[in-house]
Amino acid sequence: METGSHSGPHPVSEAQQRVEEKLVQNVLDSFERCQDPRLKQLMQSLTRHIHSFIREVRLTEAEWNAAISFLTAAGHITDDKRQEFILLSDVFGASMQTIAVNNETIDNATEATVFGPFFVEDAPEIENGGDIAGAAPGQPCWVEGSVKDTAGNPIPNARIEVWEADEDGFYDVQYSDQRVSGRAHLFSDADGNYRFWGLTPTPYPIPHDGPVGEMLEAVGRSPMRASHLHFMVTAPGLRTLVTHIFVRGDELLKHDSVFGVKESLIRNFEEQAPGTAAPDGRDLGGLSWARTRFDIVLAPTGS
Ligand code: BEZ
Ligand code: FE
Repeated sequence: METGSHSGPHPVSEAQQRVEEKLVQNVLDSFERCQDPRLKQLMQSLTRHIHSFIREVRLTEAEWNAAISFLTAAGHITDDKRQEFILLSDVFGASMQTIAVNNETIDNATEATVFGPFFVEDAPEIENGGDIAGAAPGQPCWVEGSVKDTAGNPIPNARIEVWEADEDGFYDVQYSDQRVSGRAHLFSDADGNYRFWGLTPTPYPIPHDGPVGEMLEAVGRSPMRASHLHFMVTAPGLRTLVTHIFVRGDELLKHDSVFGVKESLIRNFEEQAPGTAAPDGRDLGGLSWARTRFDIVLAPTGS
């Protein structure tokens, strides 16, 4: 990412400021006849922010060209499998800020975090106690918990989608062989509880072989995400929750490349020594495994 050199800020004369402010006003005025009040608000506010950014940093033409080249490259790499603009939003924290604005903390409701690009509709259904891993390599991990509303009432039959990367740091959709692994959906039982086998989450990089990766490299930032397991939980009359759980002790918790970590979502993943009996009697072949608990609280719809 080459932006050219810049001679640094210099004083801007009053006459020059008037020229710049007049342009901002002209652009704002151009949206005045917009019939949709919300669209008008969005466009005028965006205009103010773009112009104040350009004026604040005294953007050079070389920098403007570099930005256009960057966006063009992001467009070229984007297709139905790769969404570079969402990645860009993610690494700026814009995705997390939009989630924060739209999912205000309600009482004890579980906090939301970034969706990510690896969710797939129609993942296989498993029974409670089933295994989402399929052929994905990794340490088996028993995950259990409850689904309740903010008043503490258990929610039976909540739909719980779960998905995660394998121990090599890849989601099934990143392989070219059409495998389905590390993902499934299940329903909470009559008491609002759920349980399944997954894999102990491991860290992995966001896709960084494109312009966003190049930008991270240029600014000395890592593409790594803290280890996590994704959840999306839906139930009638309750706000859909899109979230993850993170692994306590993971060194990347403070450096997640998409700013997705929230303290309330960090869980203990308790390592179980080889030979420790599994909760459901599963034969783990003498290997170690882990277990964690995630109690989910759904906010009311419209909150
Ligand atoms: C993920 O968690 O899968 C993810 C989130 C944001 C960007 C890339 C990946
Ligand atoms: Fe992920």
